[in-house]
Amino acid sequence: MRRGARTNLALLGLLGAAFLTGWLAFAFATAPARWSLLAHAVSGFAILLLLPWKSLIARRGVARPRRGRWASVVFSILVLASLLAGLLHSTGLLRWWGDLTAMDIHVGAAIAAVPFAAWHVARRRVRLRPADLSRRSLLRGGAVIAGATLAYGASEAGVRVLGLAGARRRYTGSYDAGSFRPDQMPVSSWILDPIPDIDPTAWRLEAGARTWTYQELLRFDDQITATLDCTGGFCSTQEWSGAWLSRLLEPGDALSVRVVSATGYDRRFPVEELGRLLLATRFGGVPLDPGHGFPVRLVAPERRGFWWVKWVRSLQLEGLPHWWQSPFPLQ
Ligand code: HEM
Ligand code: HEM
Repeated sequence: MRRGARTNLALLGLLGAAFLTGWLAFAFATAPARWSLLAHAVSGFAILLLLPWKSLIARRGVARPRRGRWASVVFSILVLASLLAGLLHSTGLLRWWGDLTAMDIHVGAAIAAVPFAAWHVARRRVRLRPADLSRRSLLRGGAVIAGATLAYGASEAGVRVLGLAGARRRYTGSYDAGSFRPDQMPVSSWILDPIPDIDPTAWRLEAGARTWTYQELLRFDDQITATLDCTGGFCSTQEWSGAWLSRLLEPGDALSVRVVSATGYDRRFPVEELGRLLLATRFGGVPLDPGHGFPVRLVAPERRGFWWVKWVRSLQLEGLPHWWQSPFPLQ
């Protein structure tokens, strides 16, 4: 019985670790993403290793006529779907399912599992006892982590030996798509942000105290080659041109700039970054198309795709610190 309890407690810790390290990896577009994803993959593989034990517990539980068994079954389906989609993405065996990427399904199923996980842990309570922290249990826990690390190493080696697409992913886990080919770059937005229909002759950019027309912005030709790394699991490098925000705004004593889209979507940046953020009108020498942010979009090198606000309507200088926002967009 206690062995079952320890398996459940280990699963609780591993699910928490996988959830946390997944979001942490989304927060970075640079090297730390890899470290976070290493811990992430090891927690995921450890959950897989514990599944044979958990299935014994689950079978016993399902056999009992108790209220809410269906919720545990839905929870199991969501966790298994997330695990499967994560593995399909990382190996490259299946990257798209209709309009969704394997990564969309991976993260979507994990988020959908959260309320069921909370219910499961609250209603199928396990008490921690001093014996659960004995040397023996810790050694067992260590063995599970070591086994999971080996299994992850073997899967990464297998991907390379078999020449699967997974061998070509970036340190964020993303796959290159349409680099230096604007017409081949995938279109993606945060959750359900719709593509607006904008008339460039009527459109104006509000930047601090002044406004700019599209024609005025087209005259700027500041350039940067930067990689948009989307949390949907792809990345694309393009030559972007437009205007550095430092050329459009005089920060004065403002602390942050809020970049707002025609859809209402927004992100806030520290004013120190104005010289490194580009308001792009073109990529690869051609004007942006509606899916990629026409008339103007933000290029925020070293930040994940959800910072690259599209269809920018205004740049608002504010006295609020840049961290005064949800770490991930809520709309
Ligand atoms: C990979 C994650 C997990 C999955 C897929 C899962 C799935 C299941 C299923 C299908 C059942 C049987 C149906 C039921 O009793 O409602 C069950 C039972 C149970 N689960 Fe989980 N569970 C997971 C994680 C956890 C965690 C984190 C805890 C607690 C910390 C936990 C504690 C329990 C307990 C105490 C039972 C009842 C066992 C019994 O009646 O003998 N489970 N689980
Ligand atoms: C139930 C919770 C989760 C579990 C059990 C889980 C497990 C996994 C597993 C097993 C992999 C494949 C690892 C590999 O073979 O390299 C993976 C990949 C990945 N997961 Fe999760 N995950 C969970 C939630 C999340 C969340 C919430 C996010 C982001 C917010 C996330 C982001 C990622 C990313 C970016 C990869 C790709 C890593 C790569 O290809 O190198 N995961 N996950």
